[in-house]
Formats: sequence, C-alpha cells, structure tokens
Amino acid sequence: MSIVLANTQTITRAAELLRQGELVAFPTETVYGLGADASSITAVQKIFIAKGRPASHPVIVHIAHINKLESWAKDIPYVAYKLAEAFWPGPLTLILKRSDNVPDLVTGSQETVGVRIPSHPVALQLLEAFGGGIAAPSANRFGRISPTTAQHVQSELGDLVKLILDGGACQVGLESTIIDTTLKQCRILRPGGIGVEEVAEILGYLPAVISKSSVRVSGALESHYAPRTPTFLIHDFSNISKNSGILAISGKPANFAGVWSPMPTNAKDYARKLYSSLRALDELGLERILIEVVPDSPEWLAIHDRLKRAATPQ
Ligand code: TXA
Ligand code: MG
Repeated sequence: MSIVLANTQTITRAAELLRQGELVAFPTETVYGLGADASSITAVQKIFIAKGRPASHPVIVHIAHINKLESWAKDIPYVAYKLAEAFWPGPLTLILKRSDNVPDLVTGSQETVGVRIPSHPVALQLLEAFGGGIAAPSANRFGRISPTTAQHVQSELGDLVKLILDGGACQVGLESTIIDTTLKQCRILRPGGIGVEEVAEILGYLPAVISKSSVRVSGALESHYAPRTPTFLIHDFSNISKNSGILAISGKPANFAGVWSPMPTNAKDYARKLYSSLRALDELGLERILIEVVPDSPEWLAIHDRLKRAATPQ
C-alpha cells in the first residue's frame, strides 16, 4: 500500500523519490497528478508506461515559482506574464515556446511546452522540496476519468506508482484551463478550472476555445475522461430501466427505478463532484450511465466539455 498522508516528512520522502527518478502521485487543486522529474528522460518515460499513454502526448511541467519559468520556456510574451500574475498559483496551464533543454518526451516533440504553478499547498511544498520542474499528467490510465482523491489514484495505478501523497479531495475537480500564448491571439485549448470570462477580462478580448484541434492535446481526443460503462447525455428521464445510473441535477421522479446520483446545481460544486460521482456509478456494473444535460451558461463550459467526452462511445 503506497498511500501516505501528506506531511513534511512524507513530502520530503516524495521529493527524494523524484530525485531518484521514481514516480510520485500528488494532489493538486484540479486533479491528482502523476509526477516525475521533468528534466529526466528515463523518469518521464515511466509516466507514459504507467499511464499506457502514447509518447506523442505532451505532459505539463509544474513549477514552484514564476522565477523558474525561464528554465522551461523562452521568448515568453508579455500576455503570458499577465495571465500568470492573475491566475498563478492556480488551475491555469500556459503553452509557451519551449526552451532548448526540455526533453522531447515532455513536449511530444513539439516546439512548445505547457507550464503551470498549482495552488494546492501539498503540490507547492513538494515542488519546493524537489526544487526542479515536475512533469505530471493526471494520475489515471490513458483515456480514463481523472482522479480527485488518493484512493482513485490507487485504484487506477496500484503498484505502478511508488508513493501516493494523500492531500484530500481536490477542490476544483476539473483539469486546468490550457491557454496557448504562442500566437497573436491567445486561444483556449482546454476549458477548465478558470472560466473563459475570467480569462477574457485579463486579455481584453474573448479568446477562441479550440475544443477539437490538430494540436496534440490528449484532452482533445474525442473519447476521454470516459467511464467503462456506456454513458449517454439525456434531456428527460422517463422510461429509464432499472439497470441505469443517472447523474441528475433535477429532482427524482417518484417512480424512478435506477440508481439516482444527485448533483449540485451550482457549476463549481458540480465540477468538484463530477469525477468521483462518475467513478462511483462506473463501479456498480450498470448497463448504462445517463447524465442529465446541464445549463448552457458560460460557467458550465468546462463541464459541458467533459460530459461530451465522457459520453462519446470508445
Ligand atoms: O489540471 C491539470 O492540468 C492536471 C494537473 C495534474 O496539473 N494535469 C493534467 O495533465 O490534466 P494531462 O496530461 O492529463 O493533460 C494535460 C494536457 C494534455 O491534453 C496535453 O496534451 C496538453 O495538456 N499539453 C501539454 N503540453 C502541451 C503543449 N506543448 N501543447 C499543447 N498541449 C499540451
Ligand atoms: Mg489527463
């Protein structure tokens, strides 16, 4: 059993393991990450093996402080600093021109690198104790639902990871917002923890959201974040068979026979609960999971994105 409660001692141990080229899972405010020394090719390789993830998919480099940014990126535009100032530490990943020493495996051999300063205190303490950049995708098997608790990581990766730092349930619950700052106009490559409108306020314009693009963002594969149980989005739930589970935001009909999983009607609370609720339903061996469609307002954008991907047949 490799789950340990995060404290000064276990964080120091985790940093040592990272220095030895081992994998460590740790909490961030968005989802749990599967971390490795970002400057070590052999360490980063272990991430891809553990996740079963194709080598062409880049991973995000996590750093403790903005003064480390220039070790990973170059020709950093002013707008990137403005976004960093507004949202770091926090659920924002900036796509920047890579500096020359970043391993190809980290960038998927692209000319850009994704960097983020997370705000979770355990993530920050680990980054400080380690000193360097930590490459970390979400700590799930490729294509599966991201983990928002240490137990989720354990059930996804088991013994493939040396140590899992338990820092409780993630506060945001959805992955970071990814912004490409390498073009004249910034674009959002993945909606996430920071809303498009908040980003627009800093940019002074509404950025395009490129949800499906030719850029190699693994979150941009159509079927991603997916339960194993066939999952569908639905508008109404009359005539639902016993063997269905439903994530619902409206009230339970009197004659409902399936598994009812009530969800919050507030977008932030819904996001925090989404992956653990999906995971719980997925473990019941149901015939299908049904998700009641959520409102269309901007604060639900990232949730819409994840629900669409969860519901696409694999
Ligand atoms: O919230 C998060 O971002 C979490 C926590 C652990 O930080 N991490 C995460 O990592 O979601 P991952 O690997 O599951 O998703 C990162 C996304 C992938 O879709 C990857 O393709 C994209 O970021 N990405 C990384 N570097 C990129 C680059 N240079 N250009 C375009 N996309 C990039
Ligand atoms: Mg992921």
